[in-house]
Amino acid sequence: MKHLLSLETMPRAAMETVLKASAGFKTGRGGRHAQPLAGQTWALLFAKSSTRTRVSFEVAIRELGGQPMFLNAADIQLGRGEPIKDTARVLGRMVHGTVIRTYAQSDVEEFARYSAIPTVNALTDQEHPCQILTDIFSFEEKRGPIPASIVAFVGDGASNVAQSWIFAAAKLGFELRIAAPNAFQPPRDVLRRAGVREMGTATGRGCGGELENGGRLLVTEHLEQAVAGADLVYTDVWVSMGKEAETATRLQALEPFQVNNALLKFAKPDALVMHCLPAYRGKEISENTFESHASTIFDQAENRLHVQKAILNWIIS
Ligand code: CP
Ligand code: NVA
Repeated sequence: MKHLLSLETMPRAAMETVLKASAGFKTGRGGRHAQPLAGQTWALLFAKSSTRTRVSFEVAIRELGGQPMFLNAADIQLGRGEPIKDTARVLGRMVHGTVIRTYAQSDVEEFARYSAIPTVNALTDQEHPCQILTDIFSFEEKRGPIPASIVAFVGDGASNVAQSWIFAAAKLGFELRIAAPNAFQPPRDVLRRAGVREMGTATGRGCGGELENGGRLLVTEHLEQAVAGADLVYTDVWVSMGKEAETATRLQALEPFQVNNALLKFAKPDALVMHCLPAYRGKEISENTFESHASTIFDQAENRLHVQKAILNWIIS
């Protein structure tokens, strides 16, 4: 039984299998492609808002021959306090797989354990694995293999998206630099779990070190240092879902960490700019930078569909 619960636990070989298969699902769309989910019903259990993840999974499941069933977590008994493990045991007897978006990573793990059906993490507070697999596919489609490349993540370095990037760098072996204010840098525990061998001096301003598989990680408050020579400059929202009570503090601390044309001057001249979306112009990215890189950003959004087909196909095979 396979699950995709996090990039921390996804084997490197599985990531490579998914990335390799994604191109075939992209070019083969609209033709007579295999229907590996024929006869299956998959639940989409969402406790947070979604446009891309919901639509891309619903379409992917249908195009692979299955039936998606969207369940808003607030509308089912889970929303009235029924335990996740009971919900899991019920769905496990009725559907063939579940895609879950929720808050605690432990809820997705508990769901997988109790449901005994393939379970996919569609975003938790800790990770967004489907997004980062798609981002890597999108990068490689335009620039070739990621291992020799430099990825600069600018903004909330403690977000789910940033944390999945860290585990991807540790597995696939590329250089990841995170520019974030001290209060929004990735937790030390995440860096340790990703296998950062030297943490540098704990000045509170930054750290980093070597990763497995030839990767490198730098965490810094210095934007220019992070972006210098980068092949990809990436950002995510400053106020993630569930963090709304911290909006004022976040907007203030993160204000200097905007991706804009002045910052991009430090990156490679042909650097790609990506955003997982939704984007807040004038906050994490300027309007003109977003619009100049819109074709990459919406290719990235479209690729969610193709990569998630590869994920579903891998999980059931
Ligand atoms: N990027 C992403 O996961 O978008 P949604 O929140 O719209 O699903
Ligand atoms: N970090 C963001 C990602 C949205 C796709 C959030 O959790 O809201």
